[in-house]
Amino acid sequence: MSRIIGVFSGKGGVGKTTTAVNLGVALTKLGKSVVLVDSNVNTPNVSLHLGMNFTPFTIQDMMENAPYIPQAIYVHESGLRVIPADFSLKERHVDISELKNHMHKLAGESDYVIMDCAPGLGPDTRASIEACSEFIIVTNPETPAIADAYKTYKAIKGVNGKVLGLVVNKVNKDGYELDSGEIEEFFNEKIIGIVPEDKSVRASIQNKRPVVMHKPNSKASKAYSRLAMHIAGVQTKTFSDILLEFLGPGRKK
Ligand SMILES: Nc1ncnc2c1ncn2[C@@H]1O[C@H](COP(=O)(O)OP(=O)(O)OP(=O)(O)O)[C@@H](O)[C@H]1O
Ligand SMILES: [Mg+2]
Repeated sequence: MSRIIGVFSGKGGVGKTTTAVNLGVALTKLGKSVVLVDSNVNTPNVSLHLGMNFTPFTIQDMMENAPYIPQAIYVHESGLRVIPADFSLKERHVDISELKNHMHKLAGESDYVIMDCAPGLGPDTRASIEACSEFIIVTNPETPAIADAYKTYKAIKGVNGKVLGLVVNKVNKDGYELDSGEIEEFFNEKIIGIVPEDKSVRASIQNKRPVVMHKPNSKASKAYSRLAMHIAGVQTKTFSDILLEFLGPGRKK
């Protein structure tokens, strides 16, 4: 059974898609089988971040015609499987209240389903909350983003959702931000990722490649890779761990 992890926020533009896409690729790099789902059907961006321009079948088709599931799954060059949303400019209103049933059909076919969700607390967000088994809340370290994130957090807690923790994105440390301790205290939740404001992210979006592929050594990439390791339960080795392994067990003392 897959872990179905939703990436939520309150406010728009805080970095959900960037987080979902890079987490998906970073987990794939760790050898996990991952399906990334764009459930932000009204303002979808996953395909744009990944440079997947030609996807005739989308989550909207899946919602309208249940048997279409296999056709709507595409394989990105990273190995990540993706269920994109139709990002054409034509108006298309699709009811995604059945998302949960579709996601449960997917469970079992992969280790992880990562869902990139809509901002706010409209019906699409509510349907995504119902469909997920675990939750990541993305925020920026500013009061409006945090206030909005808190509303989504409460909605998730209201259905007894398992919150994995907070990802604080676009961190500048310019002295005008809330610090980690204040944010954790406000939510009473752990921060599981701190991603700096990093121009590599914007460069990667322009290049239509996730930053963990485009600039793997950038600060943002390292933060997303650490987040993936945390979620997958992979221990990050310290320098002394590596040194001890190198010297052998006889030298451990
Ligand atoms: N760590 C970062 N450093 C610098 N810029 C970033 C970072 N993360 C995201 N951005 C910028 O912020 C923009 C919005 O990010 P993203 O699309 O991931 O937000 P979102 O929460 O998914 O937005 P929406 O609510 O519209 O779906 C990106 O286009 C990118 O330019
Ligand atoms: Mg988005």
